[in-house]
Amino acid sequence: MADQPPDDGADVDPALFARLAADPLAGHLGIVLEQVRPGYARAAMTVGPQLLNAVGTAHGGATMALLDVVHAAVSNSHGTVAVAQDVHTEFLAPGRPGDRLVAEGTEVHRSSRTAVYRIDARAQDGRLVATALARVFRTERPWGVAGMTSSFPVPTMPAPPVGVVGLGQLGGSLAAALVAAGREVTGWDVDPAAREAAAARGVRITRELEGVVVLAVPLPAMAGALEGLAVAPDATVTDLGSVKAPVLAQLRPVHGGRFVGGHPMCGTERSGHEATDPALFTGARWAVCLEPDTELPRWLRVAEVALAAGAEVVPVTAAEHDDAVAAISHVPHLLAAALAAAAAEAGPLALALAAGSFRDGTRVIASDPAFVTAMVEGNAGPTAAALARVQEQLARPWPELIAAGHAVRAGTPAGRRVVRVPLDRSALLALGRAGGAVSTRLAAFVEGWVPDAG
Ligand SMILES: NC(=O)c1ccc[n+]([C@@H]2O[C@H](COP(=O)([O-])OP(=O)(O)OC[C@H]3O[C@@H](n4cnc5c(N)ncnc54)[C@H](O)[C@@H]3O)[C@@H](O)[C@H]2O)c1
Repeated sequence: MADQPPDDGADVDPALFARLAADPLAGHLGIVLEQVRPGYARAAMTVGPQLLNAVGTAHGGATMALLDVVHAAVSNSHGTVAVAQDVHTEFLAPGRPGDRLVAEGTEVHRSSRTAVYRIDARAQDGRLVATALARVFRTERPWGVAGMTSSFPVPTMPAPPVGVVGLGQLGGSLAAALVAAGREVTGWDVDPAAREAAAARGVRITRELEGVVVLAVPLPAMAGALEGLAVAPDATVTDLGSVKAPVLAQLRPVHGGRFVGGHPMCGTERSGHEATDPALFTGARWAVCLEPDTELPRWLRVAEVALAAGAEVVPVTAAEHDDAVAAISHVPHLLAAALAAAAAEAGPLALALAAGSFRDGTRVIASDPAFVTAMVEGNAGPTAAALARVQEQLARPWPELIAAGHAVRAGTPAGRRVVRVPLDRSALLALGRAGGAVSTRLAAFVEGWVPDAG
């Protein structure tokens, strides 16, 4: 063993961590770099459908990418640039669909010129899936990381005001939650009754908006929502719309990099300002979109609004969001309508006997039909694709289908593991792809969690 510093558990400089986590391929594969301290690194990856090989197990390339992310992090953890020379990998057990692989790298040997690392990737049940012995050439070139996070707003800076356009269920609830959290909130609605109700909750009603401007109007009204309003030229604009790619296509040409799409995953079948509930966002996931040209400091300002309202932030691209919500929201709306219509055809006796499973499966049919229609038609492509997948499932033999559905529920990790994520696009997107979310904003990081078998 070479001249290793004693392991005092101290992490590397946050700016170095941020640089090491800024790995676009890792982000693409959903690999989250979880910890780096001198001589040690850990990263995790969930074996999703996109990471499988032809026989349906974790692709060797994906597993090696996980090992390589850890190799890069641990070998650069001393603050000088290390260059990979060799990685010898043994594949010992297949990574299965849904497995959460955690790779840990430790320093076996380090001299002034070279270093050797052992990296093990294990599944949640302790199975050793792959092990690697890796060597680097060590340069004396330091990582230039000083001051790299200076362009981000820091938590001690005053939070900007929030201007909410549309003070109905979602907008009214957000405005009320933010007032309760001590944020300065302004707002506007075309409906005088909604304006009055919001004013009574501490919202300053005005047509002049600045800071973070939130469009909380129905999807068809999104494009024209700022007409007749004065919006500060440096304001960040976000929205709460249930689909993201069409809203992005409408608003990016107008607001450019100042627009950051968002979608809180909460709400009820009620609508209008009467449905205002300041606790609506508590514990909810809130997708905040990160496109290649999204300005990260503005993304962070929008994420802070979601966190202040009590939600957890899921970093995601608009396209990924739309595919995901088609599967878990838009198709369920269509299925609920189909179930209800088919049960009505079965007659009054069937409806009279309907109990829990029918009620739960059809709850969302109470939603405003215009709202649901705008939502599914606004996301027609991904919704049709997700519906086709459901139809394929329905064609399976029933015992097989029921067992497959049950296995998904049984296999969903119940636990969570806390991770720190640097303010970096690919690292943030990796957190979202891994099924995690941001829960707290820290100075140079955000803190969040990823699912964990516990
Ligand atoms: N309801 C849900 O479950 C839910 C969940 C997540 C996201 N969303 C999204 O949130 C947004 C708002 O939905 P909601 O449920 O709060 O609707 P809502 O009908 O309760 O409220 C919309 C409000 O916008 C106002 N409005 C309409 N056009 C306007 C305009 N041009 N300028 C100013 N105000 C205008 C209306 O008067 C109303 O008060 C939608 O884009 C929807 O996709 C809804």
